Order: sequence, then C-alpha cells, then structure tokens
Amino acid sequence: MDKIYIDNMVDCLRAAGETTRARVLALLSRGELSVGELAQVLGQSQPRLSRHMKFLTSAGLVERMPEGAWVFYKLPRKGVGRDLVDSILKLIDLEGDGLQRDFVRLEEIRAARQKEAGEFFERSAKEWDAIRALHYPEADIEAAVLDEIGQGPFEHIIDMGTGTGRMLSLIAPFAKSADGIDLSHQMLTIARSNLSDEKFSHVDVRHGDATQTAFNNNSADLVIIHQVLHFLDEPERAIQEASRLLMPNGLLLVVDFAPHDLEYLRRDQAHRHLGFSDDYFADWCEGAGLIVGPTRRFDAPTTTLKQEQAGIAVNIWTANKSTSPIVPIMPTEHLDSKELNA
Ligand SMILES: C[S@@+](CC[C@H](N)C(=O)[O-])C[C@H]1O[C@@H](n2cnc3c(N)ncnc32)[C@H](O)[C@@H]1O
Repeated sequence: MDKIYIDNMVDCLRAAGETTRARVLALLSRGELSVGELAQVLGQSQPRLSRHMKFLTSAGLVERMPEGAWVFYKLPRKGVGRDLVDSILKLIDLEGDGLQRDFVRLEEIRAARQKEAGEFFERSAKEWDAIRALHYPEADIEAAVLDEIGQGPFEHIIDMGTGTGRMLSLIAPFAKSADGIDLSHQMLTIARSNLSDEKFSHVDVRHGDATQTAFNNNSADLVIIHQVLHFLDEPERAIQEASRLLMPNGLLLVVDFAPHDLEYLRRDQAHRHLGFSDDYFADWCEGAGLIVGPTRRFDAPTTTLKQEQAGIAVNIWTANKSTSPIVPIMPTEHLDSKELNA
C-alpha cells in the first residue's frame, strides 16, 4: 500500500473535510461527472463548485479530465487518494437523507440525458449508416476490423451497441453464434431487417445495455464495441462488462474516435465524449483485467468532407482476456477483407 507524509495527509483530510466536497466524493463514487452536472446536483454555481474541485484535485482525491469545452472529474483508480476516499465513504451512511437526495437528483439528470441521446438515435436510425460514413473511410476500417479478428471460427460473438447491425453482418459469418444488443428499439428494428437473410439465422439482436448485459460470464470469444463508447456516461463500465463476458483468451475489439475538438458533436449527435486517448483505453483495460493488444489508427479524412465534419481520427484498439500467466497477444495474421467476403 502507498503511503504519504503526515503533512500531505492533513491536506487530504482538509480537502475532504467540508460538506460540499464530501458530497462530491460520494457522487463521484457513482462514476465520472462533469462540473456542470455536479453543480446541478448540488445546486451550486459552477465557479463556486470549481473552487471546491480545485481543492480536491490538488489533494489527489479526484482527477480532472478536460475534454473540449467540458471538464470531467472522477475518483482516482488507485493510490493513497483513492484509499482515503474509499475509507471515508465506508464510514458515511450513504442511505442518509442528504446524500440520498443527491443520488436521486443525479439519477434524474442522467435519465434526462439518456432520454435525449435515445431520442437522437430514434431520429437518426435510418440515416445512421449514412452518418457514420461521413467521419472516416468506412471500408478501410471494416477491412482492418476483419484483418484484426482473423477468420475464427468464433464460438460466440457479442456486438455491444449493434445499431443497424452492420458489424454483425460483417463478422457473424465467422461465428457459430452471434448476438447484438442495443438500447434503441428503432435501431434494433433496422438491424433485424438487415440481418433477416438465411445466412444470419445464427444471429440475434435484442434490447440491452452495453454496461450491464444479460449474458453469462465467459460466454463470448469475441466482443466488439464499434463507435459506441463515446456515447456512454461511463465507457469503462462497458469495458468491464466486455471483460466479464469474455472467455479466457477472448478478444475485445473497440473502434472509436481518437481525441478531437468537434464540440458540435455533443450538441448535434449526442456525443458524450470527444474521443479517447490510448492511455484511457489502456487504463480501462488494466482496471478490467484485460491485456492491451495492437492498436491501429486511421487519420482523419481530409477530402470529400465538409469543413466541420473533417478532423476525426479513428482507432481500432484490441485487448484480450488472458489466462494466468499473462501472455501479451500477438498481432493477427493479415487477411484480405475481399477474400473473407468472397
Ligand atoms: C453510433 S451507433 C453505432 C452502431 C454500430 N456499432 C455501428 O457502428 O454501426 C451507437 C449505437 O450505440 C447504441 N447505444 C448507446 N448507448 C448504449 C448502451 N448503453 N448500450 C447499448 N447500446 C447503446 C445506440 O443506440 C446506437 O445504436
């Protein structure tokens, strides 16, 4: 266990030793939040709350993550700061009146945001295949996904946030069975229609949340999360869920944006996060017991797009669930996507 000097400990205790800041710590134990959301829950002005957050951050009790025009805060994953917060929270009655009101308010705010995102997906279900094609050369990404997963055959593939089922139609031919889940019923209707062909009789799509699925532990040898994480409040929960679902040696493949500053995507397309760095992905994997594998990066397209649509690079990250002893995964053999589709 890490230790710190007594003076630093006193600073940490001072930082936590104030009602608003203690309430912040309790709220962040439920997942990362933006300063605006914290201000809404606690009924305080943002400048006032920012001062509290500065205190907590410099004491190492919370981590600050600027992302475009927003700033998110979360509890550190480990270290003295985290140990201290955990010890404090263990001694507080989280069911007590004051904190319960904060948690209820937090759930209301989250529910309102999810409703907004859900409405966006319902509206855009039909156009989604067109929207996603705007951001990057889709054919290249899909060829790389196929190259990365290899030929299988896989026992069971799970596609989290399957949308219109595009990934399933690409990779299900290499699996004995495949499931896609999505929160949007309208997306699922389109996915069902896209996967109605006889050759997809081993594929099912159903309603479900990527952060909490109904599948059994160790039930998939490939989990794919394609362009979903940036919509989630807590992307790491989907990575943890993927790890739970993966069999030993199973492969996780995540496709998502690299960090970018296209702020309008929050407003127009319900993006919660403006991309993720490799470090974020590595951190989530470490926390979920996965070993990071090869990453591929696709730089932003510079032609054919309107000015405000250009500028997003896409990463394909991989990780695998290792058995002990830990063996890093090797890059997969090159496979031509045309061969696979033949
Ligand atoms: C951008 S689309 C990507 C769809 C698909 N993976 C693809 O690349 O074509 C994002 C999808 O994630 C779904 N989604 C968002 N949050 C989700 C969650 N918590 N659990 C499951 N699906 C979710 C949305 O309904 C939407 O269909």
